[in-house]
Amino acid sequence: MNTYKIAVIAGDGVGPEVCREGMKVLRQIEKLDADLHFEFQEFPWGCEYYLEHGEMMPQDALEILSEFDAIYLGAIGFPGVPDHISLWDILLKIRKGFDQYINLRPVKLLKGAPCPLKDVKREDVDMLVVRENSEGEYAGSGSWLYPGKPNEVVIQDGVFSRVGCERVIRYAYELARKENKRLTSISKANALNYSMVFWDQIFQEIGAEYPDVETDSYLVDAASMFFVKEPQRFQIVVTSNLFGDILTDLGAAIAGGMGLAAGANLNPERKFPSMFEPIHGSAPDIAGLGKANPLAAIWSVSQMMDFFGHEDWGRAVLAAIEQLLAEKKILTEDLGGTSTTAEVGDAVAALLKK
Ligand code: NAI
Ligand code: MG
Repeated sequence: MNTYKIAVIAGDGVGPEVCREGMKVLRQIEKLDADLHFEFQEFPWGCEYYLEHGEMMPQDALEILSEFDAIYLGAIGFPGVPDHISLWDILLKIRKGFDQYINLRPVKLLKGAPCPLKDVKREDVDMLVVRENSEGEYAGSGSWLYPGKPNEVVIQDGVFSRVGCERVIRYAYELARKENKRLTSISKANALNYSMVFWDQIFQEIGAEYPDVETDSYLVDAASMFFVKEPQRFQIVVTSNLFGDILTDLGAAIAGGMGLAAGANLNPERKFPSMFEPIHGSAPDIAGLGKANPLAAIWSVSQMMDFFGHEDWGRAVLAAIEQLLAEKKILTEDLGGTSTTAEVGDAVAALLKK
């Protein structure tokens, strides 16, 4: 019997609504597989907690979380708490504190999922973006001088360490080799004449160890154009923190929308727990209405199963989502349906087969 301890930080807005459905699917897996057991512990951290306690989560939160096999996160952020506080004090604290330096974001158009692109076949949108998740443009380094004065100056540094670049790029090469896929690096070495020149150099250096892997290297502006015009160019993509953030929202838009986009924050060495989440935010405009699409949160359950080494279940969860999309009967409003969050969760659980 494999028992996995999962810390649930459902968070704000639609976070708790979509997490509930992901947990429903995990419970269903448990029913269908006598070898698997999940223990959930929920933590009430987030903006509401902040308004009450003056902090997004307690000081010893990382210590508490370190006991778990995985973290399942809904969404953080709500009007009334500045976004840079809610983002930095939970999400980024966990990503950095637990050295979750890989952010894996599938951009895969499932059968039946809507795609705004003309003349693009479903098979053409099938990539996995490996985003650097620990430093780069989101390192949090910089300074704010002479605030409010006429000579006010703000500096935001990009931090690209050799270790940081090598490990994410190596991870992507390994993945490309394992899956026999093409690897594309996305950077911007023409304008960012230190950080991205360095990135490109390391991409080449590591590439020498992987002569079997075919590669491309694009500037981020051209890459965003190709995401829309010729998404079939991309299979495995490796890129920096900021570029990955932006490109994967674009990726979500071409692969069914924010209600379908999931992301895994991985510490590949498994020294710390990894974190699984939908990439959308707390959607305050639809919170509490039962309208949120839980499929992104459920897709991240599929990623969690993959990371635990139960890829059969990872595939089964995706297959159930795909069947639901193809049947087009039980869908939330964003996908053109009229069903509630809970009805969609029930339907995925019912479609699950080993
Ligand atoms: P958002 O992703 O919450 O919403 C953008 C649009 O997509 C809204 O119209 C929303 O209704 C829709 N949407 C999002 N998730 C949906 C779902 N599951 N089903 C159906 N429709 C969905 O982004 P926004 O509005 O920029 O940010 C709202 C709050 O969320 C902010 O406080 C922001 O900081 C936070 N945020 C948190 C993230 C996280 O926890 N990982 C990521 C992005 C934003
Ligand atoms: Mg984002």
